[in-house]
Amino acid sequence: MKKNFLRIISIVLCFALVMGSSVFASADGENASRPDNSPFRISAVFNGDSATQRGITWYTKANTKSVVELVDEQGAPVNAQITYEDVFEWEGNYVHKALVSGLEAGKTYYYDVGDETVRSAAGTFTTDDKDDKVDFITFADVQAGNQENFNRGARVVEQALKMMPTAEFMANLGDFTDDSTNEEWDYYDNAFGAINMSTTLAPIAGNHDGLGVENWFNNMFNLDTSESVQTKDGVNYSFDYGNIHFAVLNTNDILAISIPQLEWLENDMKSTDKDWKIVLMHKSPYSLGKDAKWPDALYLQKSLTRIVDECNVDLVLSGHDHQYLRTKPLTGNKVDKDGAIYILSGTAGAKRYEIRTFLANHFLDTDFIDALTIQRSGGNYWDGEDWDQQNPDYEGGIFSTFSVSGGTLTVNSYVVSDYTTDEEGNIINVNEEPKVTLHDTFTLTKETGKNEITYTGDNTTSELEYTLKIVPSFLGLATYAIVEWLPKFLIMVPALLESVIVYDVF
Ligand SMILES: [Fe+2]
Repeated sequence: MKKNFLRIISIVLCFALVMGSSVFASADGENASRPDNSPFRISAVFNGDSATQRGITWYTKANTKSVVELVDEQGAPVNAQITYEDVFEWEGNYVHKALVSGLEAGKTYYYDVGDETVRSAAGTFTTDDKDDKVDFITFADVQAGNQENFNRGARVVEQALKMMPTAEFMANLGDFTDDSTNEEWDYYDNAFGAINMSTTLAPIAGNHDGLGVENWFNNMFNLDTSESVQTKDGVNYSFDYGNIHFAVLNTNDILAISIPQLEWLENDMKSTDKDWKIVLMHKSPYSLGKDAKWPDALYLQKSLTRIVDECNVDLVLSGHDHQYLRTKPLTGNKVDKDGAIYILSGTAGAKRYEIRTFLANHFLDTDFIDALTIQRSGGNYWDGEDWDQQNPDYEGGIFSTFSVSGGTLTVNSYVVSDYTTDEEGNIINVNEEPKVTLHDTFTLTKETGKNEITYTGDNTTSELEYTLKIVPSFLGLATYAIVEWLPKFLIMVPALLESVIVYDVF
């Protein structure tokens, strides 16, 4: 009884944290005073069947035992199977991973982690009830390097959870941190810890999430890596939720995407008959941001979109370029009412990119644009003709909500206003309620029950197979860069130079 009471208290505290206290998080507070066996960086992510399984990860300073406790909504212990990986040392901490399986579909669970002596606060997630109604949230590119900017990002996601309390999970489309140092992941944990423990997370590897240190991303989350073509700089995986199939890509894989990962995506998308097919990834094929001028973006336009078209993918959600851009439906790089829609998700963080006008009609046909919001001062947006329209409410961090009901999918995307600051940029009132403004909304409809499974084979890639395909992957990308990207880039140079000289925008 006493144990249940404590659980309820910790659950209430957990939600209180989610709903407003991250602005008070400070790096030197929690981490410095934490006992060595106290769990941190706790998350529950998709790992296998979303109706019955979750992958849980946490860290400790000391090498302690791994114990996950699970209760149902009444606080009664749950008879689930929990499989622990061996605890291992990683960058000065110890990593604990547990796979919880045998859960019931459509049920809410509460969990805590730790050893026999120190337990975490309670986290919660709800398993997929497998019906055809699904609500979820996406955001991208918090990419912060200090506590304040992580707190600003968390403030945006807190507004997302308030806007869509029915959200069954959230997807972080990558660039969790800026330099992926221990210090930054601790800032991240201070700001996002309670948010992560309030639902299931679908993490997507960004290029800032551990480049140069192998396995950072894979060691942060307990994902199903059985089909990942490699795990050194990210993880590709897939999961079903309701009537949606999600494929998560790792766009750090050989500059953007390797041949084995493209083959994996094709087989994966042919292995499902779910009504909706959605790709989640970090780098964007279609963008007017800083990074769209490099070969990897253009390569994605060619290599990825062929599979998207062939496999009847409905939506491709990405990040990386810190502005919001939604395309019209596209097939074969042409507007086509039956094609896929690509959404560059905007940033939930404080770093936001200008439009690179020199890219227009060189690397991105402006006819493709259905919505474009630049989150910088002035809040430029696309009105169907040009991007000089301005709405000051569009300056802020962005999140999006997705709601599927049978054959209808509705997307709403919002801007969360920044804090009011003084001339030095200091926040005037940390309790300031943000203004939340809808800047893009659209609905897709489709006839359900039409997708068929056309691939039933194995979809794993052996280390040898991956290694053997590295060379053709590099050669393919290099050839593409020289033959297709470079001539386009050279034609664009006069417009690029004008942008640099006149507007100081590269
Ligand atoms: Fe990025």
